Amino acid sequence: MDTLVRIALLPGDGVGTEVMAEILPCLDWLESRGHRLEIYHLPFGAEHFLETGETLPEAAFEEIRDGFDAILFGAVGDPRIPDGRHAEEILLRLRQGLELTVNCRPCRPLWPGSRPVIDLEVYRENTEGPYCLQGSTEPDRAVDLAIHTEPAVRRLLQAAFHRAGTRGCSLTLAHKANVLKHGHGLWMRIFEELRAANPGIVARGMHADALLCALVQDPTPFGIIAADNYLGDLISDLCAAFVGGLGVAPSLSWAPHLPYRCSVLAEPVHGSAPDIAGRGQANPVGMFLSTALLCRHLGWESEAAALEGAVSLALAEGARTRDLGGTSSTAAMGAAIRAHLPR
Ligand code: NAI
Ligand code: MG
Repeated sequence: MDTLVRIALLPGDGVGTEVMAEILPCLDWLESRGHRLEIYHLPFGAEHFLETGETLPEAAFEEIRDGFDAILFGAVGDPRIPDGRHAEEILLRLRQGLELTVNCRPCRPLWPGSRPVIDLEVYRENTEGPYCLQGSTEPDRAVDLAIHTEPAVRRLLQAAFHRAGTRGCSLTLAHKANVLKHGHGLWMRIFEELRAANPGIVARGMHADALLCALVQDPTPFGIIAADNYLGDLISDLCAAFVGGLGVAPSLSWAPHLPYRCSVLAEPVHGSAPDIAGRGQANPVGMFLSTALLCRHLGWESEAAALEGAVSLALAEGARTRDLGGTSSTAAMGAAIRAHLPR
């Protein structure tokens, strides 16, 4: 038997709760395969905030940080809270407070014959850049600070170089060091240092605007794309479009330097999708594939491969939610995937 893994479930808002519901039976399946899990459902999200005024209380944050091993996250965001305060205080607090610097967003074809044949992963710095929430709104100007620190940039780039080495693929750094001389200048300095230390890896920097154009023209030559928080956010949503859109895109964030017990968070790339929330139309594939990434991170390779395989088989036999041009409900899609999990 494995060691006990304590997982905090945070479904959050909107379709986050709908896609999370489809994953719950998979947690029982993981236990049936000999993995020891303890699952806790946490209520934090818009509904809880509107009822209690609480976003993510400090005591709950500390309990997650010190008492859990991993987080499965849905999405946060609610039109009733237009400034997104609760989302910041929940999701950004977890990413920043747990120092989940590395956010990996893979982008691969999901069923046989899908085109283009693309196999890339975006490595996005997950805690800094312009998402550090520092700035000001004045009568005639507005300021958003972008903070880039050497330890976080180095951790992200080391992880990206390591992954490119393991996969035997190229690494492209997206940057705008031609104008963002300070912040992206720091990125370039550390990138060049790691490039010199890893002569076996084909690594180059590209201006992010030119990179976006090259990606749209042909994404197939790219292996790993590393980027800061802001560019990585944009590039990864673009890449999701190559393989079916936001409903199928997974992500995993982790803290390679292990500052706390809880050092990994799996979540689909998409948000709470208020335009379709509550209608049973959300695609749960991104959530399934994020759970697969978490399994792989925990060393459960056969379960990770089984989850990914089940998604491919369900899609190959024609199961499709509306975003993929079909009519399956969220629950039907989840069931179609789970039907392919080995017993
Ligand atoms: P979004 O990702 O929620 O939706 C963008 C488009 O993708 C919408 O048309 C939506 O219907 C579609 N979509 C998203 N997930 C889908 C799924 N599982 N299946 C099928 N279609 C799906 O992004 P948007 O609209 O920009 O933001 C909505 C809210 O979500 C905002 O409050 C935003 O701040 C929040 N958000 C939260 C994120 C998170 O929790 N990680 C990430 C991105 C946005
Ligand atoms: Mg995004």
